[in-house]
Amino acid sequence: MSRKKFINAKLKSVNELQEILTDHGVFQEISPRISAPDCEIIDLQGKLILPPYVDPHIHLDYVFTARKQGAANGTGTLFEGIQRWSETKSDLTVDEIKARAIIAVKKELAHGVQFIRTHADVTDPSLTSLKAMLELREELKDLVTIQIVSFPQEGMYAYKGGQELVEEGLKMGADCVGGIPHFELAREFGEQSIHSIVNLALKYDRMIDVHCDETDDVQSRFLELLNALVLMEGIGKKTTASHTCSFGSADNSYAFKLMKNLKKSGLNFISCPTENIYLQGRQDTYPKRRGLTRVKELFENGINVCFAQDSIQDPWYPLGNGNLMNVLDNGIHIAQMMSFEEIDRCLDLITVNGAKTMNLTNSYGIEAGKPANFIVLDAKNEFEAVSERADVSASIRNGEFLFKKAPVSYEIQNDFMK
Ligand code: FE2
Repeated sequence: MSRKKFINAKLKSVNELQEILTDHGVFQEISPRISAPDCEIIDLQGKLILPPYVDPHIHLDYVFTARKQGAANGTGTLFEGIQRWSETKSDLTVDEIKARAIIAVKKELAHGVQFIRTHADVTDPSLTSLKAMLELREELKDLVTIQIVSFPQEGMYAYKGGQELVEEGLKMGADCVGGIPHFELAREFGEQSIHSIVNLALKYDRMIDVHCDETDDVQSRFLELLNALVLMEGIGKKTTASHTCSFGSADNSYAFKLMKNLKKSGLNFISCPTENIYLQGRQDTYPKRRGLTRVKELFENGINVCFAQDSIQDPWYPLGNGNLMNVLDNGIHIAQMMSFEEIDRCLDLITVNGAKTMNLTNSYGIEAGKPANFIVLDAKNEFEAVSERADVSASIRNGEFLFKKAPVSYEIQNDFMK
C-alpha cells in the first residue's frame, strides 16, 4: 500500500513519540496523532528514527582491491597506497569495477546509508572508473543517491594532460571537481591545481570536493588557498575540503586566523577518522600524531563537518564495511568529542551534516513534503544509539522498506542473565 502510517516513532530531540504519515513515497505529516483511516500501520515501538546515513566520501572504484597481487601497502602510508594503486590498476574493466562497487554499496545500504559521494579516479586516459561510476549512479538511483567526483588520484599536473582528463570527467557528467594538491610534484603545481579546480567548478557549475592536505606536513596549506578562492567566488557552501589532516598539526595562531575565514566562506569539511588515524603519523616516532583535522573545533565554531568511510579493503586501508556507526564511534573518541551534549549531537556527523556537504538539504530530512527516506535504529534515544553503537533495524526509501531486521533473540540458560 502506498499510504503508510508509522506509529510510536522517537524523533531526535523530541520527547513525545510521533506518528509519520507517508503517501506515494513522500512525508505527508509528522505529529503526535494523525487521523488517516485508509493506510497500512507500522509500529516502530518507540525506536529512534533518523534521516538516512550519508557517506559523503568513499572510493567505490577501489573497494576490495587490497588483496590483489602487488597491492599490499607495506608502510601503511597514503603515498605508498597511491603507488600500489597506480601499479595495479591497468587491468580494470567497467564490469569488474561495477561488480566490486555493488558489493560495497549493498554493505552501505545494509548499514542504513542511502546517500553516497564517491570519487572516481580519472588519471587513467580511458576513464574506466568514471564510466563504471556513471553507470552505477543511474542503475542504482532508486535505492541510493550517488554523487561522483572527477578525481585525479595521481595528480593533475604530475603528467601531461591531467587537467584535461578532470575536465573530460565533468563533461561526461561528474557532479564534483576533485584534486589532490598535496601530492602534486611541487607546491606551485598544487596551488595551480586549486586555481584550476575552482575555475572548472565555475565553468561547468559543479560542486568541489578536494583531497586537501592529507598529510602531517604543517607546511601543506592548500586549505587556505581553496577557502580564499571559493570565498571570493561565493561558492563556499558548494565546496568541500576532505581530510585536511595537516590542519590538525598546524600552529594554533595560524589555525585561529584561518578558522575565522573558514566560517566566512561556509566551506564543508569531511574527516575520515578510521583511515586517517591509520595512515597518518607514520613518520612520527613518539609522540605520534592522530592525523585528524580539527573536527571538534570546526564543530564548535559552527562550521559544517561530517564523517565518512573513505575505504573498504583497498591499498590505503585493509578494513571498512560501510558501517558509519563504527566510523562515528572511532571519530568521537579520536576527536575527544564526548561531553554528554556532544554525544547527543554527534549523530549529525553521519546524517544532516553529510547531507549539507552534498548539498542535499532540499530533498533530505524528516519533514512534510520531502521524500520519505529514513532509518530506524535499535535504540530508544540518541545517547543509547551512540553508547550501544546501535544497529540499523530498518531502512525506508520513498516510503518503502529497503530492509527490516527481525529482533535478535537469545536462548537464556543462566539464571543471572534472566
Ligand atoms: Fe579519499
